[in-house]
Amino acid sequence: MKIRNNALAGIALAATAALGLAACGSGSTAPAGSSAAGAGEITVYNAQHESLTKEWVDAFTAETGIKVTVRQGDDTEMSNQIVQEGQASPADVFLTENSPAMAQVENAGLFADVDKATVDQVPAEFRPSTNKWTGIAARSTVLVYDKKKISADKLPKSMLDLANPEWKGKWAASPSGADFQAIVSALLELKGEAATQAWLKGMKENSKAYKGNSTAMKAVNAGEVDAALIYHYYYYGDQAKTGENSNNVTPFYFKNQDPGAFVSISGGGVLKSSKNAAAAQSFLKFITGKKGQEVLQKGTSFEYAVASGVPSNDKLVPLKELQAPTVDPAKLNSAKVTELMTQAGLL
Ligand SMILES: [Fe+2]
Repeated sequence: MKIRNNALAGIALAATAALGLAACGSGSTAPAGSSAAGAGEITVYNAQHESLTKEWVDAFTAETGIKVTVRQGDDTEMSNQIVQEGQASPADVFLTENSPAMAQVENAGLFADVDKATVDQVPAEFRPSTNKWTGIAARSTVLVYDKKKISADKLPKSMLDLANPEWKGKWAASPSGADFQAIVSALLELKGEAATQAWLKGMKENSKAYKGNSTAMKAVNAGEVDAALIYHYYYYGDQAKTGENSNNVTPFYFKNQDPGAFVSISGGGVLKSSKNAAAAQSFLKFITGKKGQEVLQKGTSFEYAVASGVPSNDKLVPLKELQAPTVDPAKLNSAKVTELMTQAGLL
C-alpha cells in the first residue's frame, strides 16, 4: 500500500523519527503556499530525505540569498503531482530519492535542459544522456543480516536467490517505498519482465513486508527476521548515532554486477515551466558543485557523492568497489513496476 494521505505519512514520520533516521517520503511540514513570487525565490518539490535537502537549502540560501520553499513528498507522489499540474506547476526544481520518478517527468516533456555548467560537473555514469535532469547523489542496495542467524557461507550469491524456497520467511523489505521499487525497476531493466514477475512471486511467498527501510532494519536488529533488503545509508546513519537499531546487523553487498548490487541515482531537474529558471538552475549547480557534494561527504545523510570530484563519506564502502550493474537511469520504468508488484500482491 502506498502512503497516500497525510495521516499515514505522519505515522511513518513519527516511526522513523523514533529510529533517529530521516524517512523516505515522510510527511510534509512545508508551507502550502503557491509559487515563489520573486526572482530570488524558488520552490523545490522534494522527495529526497527532508534532512538532506534542508542541509543543501540552508547552504545555498546562505551563499546566494535565494529563498527556497520546500514541499515534501515521496518520489511517485511528487512526480504524479508535477505531471498533473503540467505547465501550471509551482515547482521550479524537482529532487528525488530515485530516478524512476525523474524519468516519468522527463517522459511527460516537463523538464528544461540542465545547464551545461552543471552537466559538466557530473560524470556521465551519474546522469541520463538526455541531460534533462542530473544525478545529485547515489545509494546502494544492501542486504543487512543477523550474523547469529545466517553464517557467511549461507549468504545468497544473488538477490535473485531470495525468491528460492530456502529463504521463506527469512527476509524483509519495504515494498511500498520508492527505494525498494527502484531496485525492482533495475531488476526489470536488467533481467526482463518474465524474470521480474517470477522473482516478485517468490518475494511474496518468502518476505515479510515492513513500512520503511528503517523499520525493516530494526526488525532484523531485534531478531524478528534474519535479513532485510534495503539501502546502505540506513545502516551507516544509525551506526553514526547510537547504533541501537543496527548493532546486531551486518551489511552484505552482492557485488558482481548482480541486480542486488544496484546503485540508485537520486535526481534533480528544473521544470520547463519555472518562472525563476536562472535561480532554479543555480540551485542544481550548487548541489552538484563542491559545496553541495561536501554536504554528502561530511553531513548526516551517508548517501554517496557523485559529482565535482568530491569523495564520499569515508565510512562507506567506496562506490567503485560495489561492482554495480550498469543501468541507464532514463530507462527505469516506475509504472510497469507498480503494475507487476500489484499483480504479485505486494502493493
Ligand atoms: Fe531512503
